[in-house]
Amino acid sequence: MTGSKLGVGFIGSGFVTKFHLEAWRGVRDADVLGVYSPNTAHAEATAARARELRVGTARAFKSIEEMIAAPEIDCVWLCGPNHLRVQNMQAICDAIQSGKGKLIGIACEKPLARNVSEARRMVQLVEQSELLHGYLEDQIFAPSVTRGREIMWSRAAALTGRPYLARAAEEHSGPHSPWFWRGELQGGGVLNDMMCHSIEVGRFMLTKPGAPRSSIRPLKVSAQIASLKWSRPHYVEILKQNMGAEVDYKTKPAEDFARATINYVDEDPNPLIVEVTTSWSYVGPGLRLSLEVLGPEYSLTMNSLDSGLKLFLSREVQGAAGEDLVEKQNAEQGLMPVLGNEAAEYGYESQDRYFVQCFLDGKQPEESFYDGLEITELLMTAYMSAEQERTIQFRPDGLDTYVPLVAQGLWTGK
Ligand SMILES: NC(=O)c1ccc[n+]([C@@H]2O[C@H](COP(=O)([O-])OP(=O)(O)OC[C@H]3O[C@@H](n4cnc5c(N)ncnc54)[C@H](O)[C@@H]3O)[C@@H](O)[C@H]2O)c1
Repeated sequence: MTGSKLGVGFIGSGFVTKFHLEAWRGVRDADVLGVYSPNTAHAEATAARARELRVGTARAFKSIEEMIAAPEIDCVWLCGPNHLRVQNMQAICDAIQSGKGKLIGIACEKPLARNVSEARRMVQLVEQSELLHGYLEDQIFAPSVTRGREIMWSRAAALTGRPYLARAAEEHSGPHSPWFWRGELQGGGVLNDMMCHSIEVGRFMLTKPGAPRSSIRPLKVSAQIASLKWSRPHYVEILKQNMGAEVDYKTKPAEDFARATINYVDEDPNPLIVEVTTSWSYVGPGLRLSLEVLGPEYSLTMNSLDSGLKLFLSREVQGAAGEDLVEKQNAEQGLMPVLGNEAAEYGYESQDRYFVQCFLDGKQPEESFYDGLEITELLMTAYMSAEQERTIQFRPDGLDTYVPLVAQGLWTGK
């Protein structure tokens, strides 16, 4: 700890780490001092980016052990790929156990793990290490979500009754790295990749501010998955060209569409519903996050593409393809939405500030590995429901050892 500031080290130097670095400009109580990635050039470029953004005098480390041992590193943001999550966590815990470093806390990206068995292992490892732990679900920190929740509960729900239905969706045209597309590596398709966000944001909106997570309880899950776009022959070829021959959706598709309904009950017990939809088959300007909450005398809506800022580009404006207007951008012309500060609007900034402050104060964050575990349990129950084409009572038998067919490379898409 340098004075009253923490030093943070990043594991992974990919897409999400870049969002965190942008967000860090709004984090006052920690500096980014380390980056580990197996690709040293990437780690060095990411450390240089942190210095350029003036979020810390970051340096690249050659191994996780070396970074944990560094006296300036107080906490770690775990942002590697899903299939290396447990391995990364084990490396952190081994380093701590061998007496290295002085780590206080760890924050882990979504999903906590690929399935329940791995998620339980993550919980076990963090408990053994006695670290403070946070689960990085940025959307429940998004200013539109937190402000919407606060005002909805304090003004409307206080007078007319609690909200009863939350609909959340996250959609874009497909992920950026090959491993996301490979069921065995990622843990599934879009259901595992993005429904984790929508499930948690729906649960968050229906939970009274200040009340514990247990104040609403999931009872049953019904879900459906499909491969709507990317297993069509034309798109199978495009995917191979863009992501490499190992991403073959003719023989090993993963779902690019998923929907689920989760029935909850509150303490009274009133019935509540969370409805979620996710897809990698939505072609609009870019990533679209949407949310709707209904209560007896009110409703709330949010759509991240309804930004206040729009830019019109005529056919004469012919620049290179990029993501300079919005994440997962699909066009560079026409009327395009622009987000003024994506890292803040998606929630990364408030999220990172919150976890840093918890770690600095020695306080266990409210959003923790335990929440990551329950979300994984719900996601796996959704896969079970989709495979069996029926509603499943939560928690079903066999959940702890269940691995979805899509994550075993056995899903046919039919
Ligand atoms: N909160 C969000 O909205 C959000 C968005 C994107 C990704 N994510 C999550 O963040 C994580 C990383 O995703 P990404 O988009 O940055 O992926 P990415 O493919 O862009 O980057 C992955 C990074 O992991 C590194 N890596 C490879 N092998 C590693 C190893 N053995 N140990 C540690 N790091 C290793 C790679 O060098 C790369 O820097 C994933 O778990 C993903 O689900 C969350």
